[in-house]
Amino acid sequence: MTRRTIGPVLINGEAVDPADATLSVFDIGFQRGYGCFEAMRTYRGVAFRLDQHLDRLAMSAEHLRIDLPRRKHLVRWCEATAGGGDGVLRVYVTGGLDPKHPGTDNAVVMFLEPLPDIPQAVRLDVLEAPWHADGKTSELTGAKTLSYGPNLAATIEARSRGFDDAALVGDGGVVLEGPTFSLGWIAAGALCTPALDSNILASITREATIEVASDLGVPVREERFVRSDLMAADEVFVMSTVREVLPVIAVAGRDLEPGPTTLQLRDGFHRLVASETA
Ligand SMILES: Cc1ncc(COP(=O)(O)O)c(C=O)c1O
Repeated sequence: MTRRTIGPVLINGEAVDPADATLSVFDIGFQRGYGCFEAMRTYRGVAFRLDQHLDRLAMSAEHLRIDLPRRKHLVRWCEATAGGGDGVLRVYVTGGLDPKHPGTDNAVVMFLEPLPDIPQAVRLDVLEAPWHADGKTSELTGAKTLSYGPNLAATIEARSRGFDDAALVGDGGVVLEGPTFSLGWIAAGALCTPALDSNILASITREATIEVASDLGVPVREERFVRSDLMAADEVFVMSTVREVLPVIAVAGRDLEPGPTTLQLRDGFHRLVASETA
């Protein structure tokens, strides 16, 4: 099945028809999940926070010791791909073809994906993520690598239990993030979100939402929270490039309403995006 894209696929800057866009089966990205990626939202042809996404890509590549083209080329390719309109700009950097020198002779793939259907709200199960050593760092801490198997398995497990997705809790009982999103909630009027030193991804939407909260005068608490903190929240929401700020209407067995502060943060986020991508 050919995946739909808006416009061509760029492979190392070369525009290729999506039907002909292929990579080698010998690429270590495919064989070992060794590589990194980014996903950016484009609004009317402009990628939101392109610089921050490229900084994170550079950090991921550095941690993996993977070669990246020069920044000016990445910017040019991203801007050309984003120009297709509203969508999700996907960027993949593979491990390459040389098993003796992983990270060299590799491919940078970019395309603009049409926006998926985003629901009005989501229902989350709380699942343990034993692979997620909260608090312990490794050379891959904070890197957005191609090894997303455990994340995907958690989403599938949550769906099999009748939820939309999962809120992950680490081996020490610390609340972390979702498989492809950050977590936030409102408790006693404050925006609570797990601290980055719990070994979660430095989400760009989370950072922007914290800025919005500060502008709105909503206090922000970035801490190490445990499951009972999440379960006692007044409002819960997820944050990601694709979902933006999205209310959560169930956490495990507990039903919730989309709360007023969540909706204020969501609207503030939309205003921020509009001002930055105008
Ligand atoms: C594990 C994880 N956490 C959080 C996020 C949200 O990050 P961002 O806001 O930069 O999209 C993602 C995005 O894919 C993710 O994969």
